[in-house]
Amino acid sequence: MRRFEIDAVIATNTTLGRAGVEHLPHGNEAGGLSGAPVRAASTRVLRELGQALAGSRTILIGVGGITDGAAAAEKREAGASLVQIYTGFIYRGPALVREAVAALAGARVEA
Ligand SMILES: Cc1cc2nc3c(=O)[nH]c(=O)nc-3n(C[C@H](O)[C@H](O)[C@H](O)COP(=O)(O)O)c2cc1C
Repeated sequence: MRRFEIDAVIATNTTLGRAGVEHLPHGNEAGGLSGAPVRAASTRVLRELGQALAGSRTILIGVGGITDGAAAAEKREAGASLVQIYTGFIYRGPALVREAVAALAGARVEA
């Protein structure tokens, strides 16, 4: 990472996988799957990346299925310095930002 002067890495994006949604009405449509169904897989990749880059000072950005404060905190626990939200923001709006900030600060916030 230092060799290429990469400062930060966004760990994951959407997935072509359909694990957990195959049975749903639109579960087999083409395109990238995002939101809650990708949460666990993205956190797993983030954690592996964090272990691989341990000591490198590369900043990790956690993204994938952050739909509440707990999911944001999960990304940080797995090694993220920053988090990105997309699908969760569509469903929950700015309240999700407030909740995520509170969770990352270690506080509880009333919905
Ligand atoms: C409608 C839509 C458009 C997206 N466009 C881009 C894009 O242009 N570039 C990119 O890197 N990721 C794009 N993404 C992926 C998101 O940045 C993010 O990595 C992914 O949706 C997982 O996060 P989420 O579960 O919070 O949505 C897009 C996602 C969605 C749902």
